[in-house]
Amino acid sequence: MDYILKSLFSSEAEELYILDCSAYLLILMALLTFVTLLFENVPYGRYASSRYGFPVNVKFAWFVQELPAILVPFCLVFFTSASRTSHLPNQLLLCMYFCHYVQRSLIYPFLIRGGKPTPFVSFALAIVFCIFNGYLQTRYLSHYAEYPADWVTHPCFISGAILWFAGWLINVHSDHILRNLRKPGETGYKIPRGGLFEFVSGANFFGEITEWAGFALAGHSIHSLAFAFFTLVVLASRAMAHHKWYLTKFEDYPKSRKALLPFVF
Ligand SMILES: NC(=O)c1ccc[n+]([C@@H]2O[C@H](COP(=O)([O-])OP(=O)(O)OC[C@H]3O[C@@H](n4cnc5c(N)ncnc54)[C@H](OP(=O)(O)O)[C@@H]3O)[C@@H](O)[C@H]2O)c1
Repeated sequence: MDYILKSLFSSEAEELYILDCSAYLLILMALLTFVTLLFENVPYGRYASSRYGFPVNVKFAWFVQELPAILVPFCLVFFTSASRTSHLPNQLLLCMYFCHYVQRSLIYPFLIRGGKPTPFVSFALAIVFCIFNGYLQTRYLSHYAEYPADWVTHPCFISGAILWFAGWLINVHSDHILRNLRKPGETGYKIPRGGLFEFVSGANFFGEITEWAGFALAGHSIHSLAFAFFTLVVLASRAMAHHKWYLTKFEDYPKSRKALLPFVF
């Protein structure tokens, strides 16, 4: 793996420069995505459309599209001279990343109940994103990120780690509530109840946005910030779209429920 990286980059300074540029590129992609999402919903799940390619089985799609988010980082951490992996802040941040993606790739897909097939274009874009972002986050953390020795006791790290953990719990719990709305074999939609869904329509999205915002605060880098920003753009739009969809679909949808931010929005 080191051989591949050495053939791609002439020096470590060059690779770090590319990683920095990639983070700014991700921010640019988030801004372009923001504009696109003003006109169109991300086409999967309830917004899936045959205009975006042939349908891919939903469990297969989630498993395969998210798998590179583990495989690429795994190779980078264990099969390269990942020189910063002996440092505690880097280890903890990498653990946060892996914890999320092990759940998302190896557990979540096999629990889905009655999910809509994913259009091929959405599936392919998700694969590209997982490779790109997996490399960006974990190469930076495993080989370049330098933190002060006492960074894990810094208020930014502690509050970021708490936010990450709270967000992860909310995300996993909310996805659990959604999947249990359907009995085996059902494919329709019901009003989600319980947990943070009592306050917002996009409880699972609120959890994931909180998670990566916490990761960015604890990681304190343009790379983690770019990921948190991209997640915010995609999932805030999805939460708003779902909220509008629920209001038109269910006459008895709770009127006090907000789209994404409890009591506010
Ligand atoms: N980091 C990122 O950029 C990013 C991007 C996308 C997703 N994600 C995460 O991936 C997870 C899934 O995302 P998603 O967009 O697929 O979430 P979603 O639209 O809320 O759907 C999640 C699952 O629950 C089902 N479901 C949703 N609402 C339901 C209802 N009212 N009644 C019955 N079943 C319902 C869906 O079925 P259908 O397929 O039939 O709709 C799907 O299987 C979330 O945790 C999200 O945070 C992260």
